[in-house]
Amino acid sequence: MKSCKHLFSRALAAAPGRLHFAAHSHHLWPDASFDAHMQAWNDAARLADRKWEHVFAHVIPAAQRHIAAELHLPDASSVAFGPNTHELVQRIFSSKQKDGPIEVLTSDGEFHSFRRQLARWEEDGMVRRRTVPCAPFESFTARYLAAVAEKAPDIAFVSHVMFQTGLRFDGIDALSERARPDGMWAVIDGYHAFMAMPVDLGRAAQNTFYLAGGYKYAMAGEGAAFLHAPAGFGPRPVDTGWYAEFADIEASPKNEVAYSRDGMRFMGATFDPSGLYRFNAVRDMLAAEGLDTNAVAARCGALRDKLEAAIASGKAGALKDAEILRPNATGPRARYLALRDKRALAWMSELLKNDVIVDARGDVLRIGIGLYHDEADIEALCGKLAALPG
Ligand SMILES: Cc1ncc(COP(=O)(O)O)c(C=O)c1O
Repeated sequence: MKSCKHLFSRALAAAPGRLHFAAHSHHLWPDASFDAHMQAWNDAARLADRKWEHVFAHVIPAAQRHIAAELHLPDASSVAFGPNTHELVQRIFSSKQKDGPIEVLTSDGEFHSFRRQLARWEEDGMVRRRTVPCAPFESFTARYLAAVAEKAPDIAFVSHVMFQTGLRFDGIDALSERARPDGMWAVIDGYHAFMAMPVDLGRAAQNTFYLAGGYKYAMAGEGAAFLHAPAGFGPRPVDTGWYAEFADIEASPKNEVAYSRDGMRFMGATFDPSGLYRFNAVRDMLAAEGLDTNAVAARCGALRDKLEAAIASGKAGALKDAEILRPNATGPRARYLALRDKRALAWMSELLKNDVIVDARGDVLRIGIGLYHDEADIEALCGKLAALPG
């Protein structure tokens, strides 16, 4: 396996003794992103007040093209940006406001950002929630779709890949077939799928919102969340910022606040665009290296298999007794290895003392593999794991 460490020379050199195996959480930043970050600074200095003309004319369209190519979207202009998915979710929900609570169908595996906001909205009677449990995993997609068929919610919100277990929702196309601008909306949180595995929204794009962002597998850091918004769904978000006006706005005959028809209707207000600079540069670097998502996933998958085999053989000590989660019978797997064991948090803290970075969510230890790992890193990790107290 050819090493890709040279693409990450700055991040690796910044902490030479560290074994960073949380690539699924906060991925290390490739060198290309450093140059892009500097470019953002230089553009701000050079263009000053005219910086945003450049960002809207070049940086945003390039990022839209990259996302459309990755997700097989028919039209790149459906993509809007925000500093995080939270802000974009707020804007979607604000577009669905009605008399009485918004009916939401979700899962018990959603990331904290949505889980917390939904719980708070529910406290105030703004939403009414139905939750489909992720377990048992084999039937999750079918159970979720059955719950939609039983009673269509106003918003069906579900992760493409669950952050804690790696469970994949395989019903995006089926869900999208039921979505209508004046009926149920389908909103997919794709943060753990985007650039972790191939995603083809070719069929679903017309009817499905898709959210993700930069700081995991896109390797671009924070501040680069995005939303693909299908045309006609939520034409006038109530939560709206003035950046939604930097678009092809149609004047409203009734003198109402006007919006564009494309994704820009979901924009907010002033934000730090450097994340988009980094994102574009990383995508260009990957293309120049001939590394698409399939290639990166195959490479990381081979290393994950090696780690799994080492754990099973006892080379990683006490981890042999943990349950390795394999929530999907077939198809692409999450980019991290999830191990269930009541010692997960203790293991994570112990590893941290030795500069080995993994993470734990409850009783699940997550070990995330990225482009900057090679076989020697897996062996080094196993050595550290073997030294953990049993
Ligand atoms: C599934 C999922 N969605 C969203 C996020 C990030 O949310 P936000 O951009 O609101 O901070 C994460 C981060 O770990 C995630 O795992």
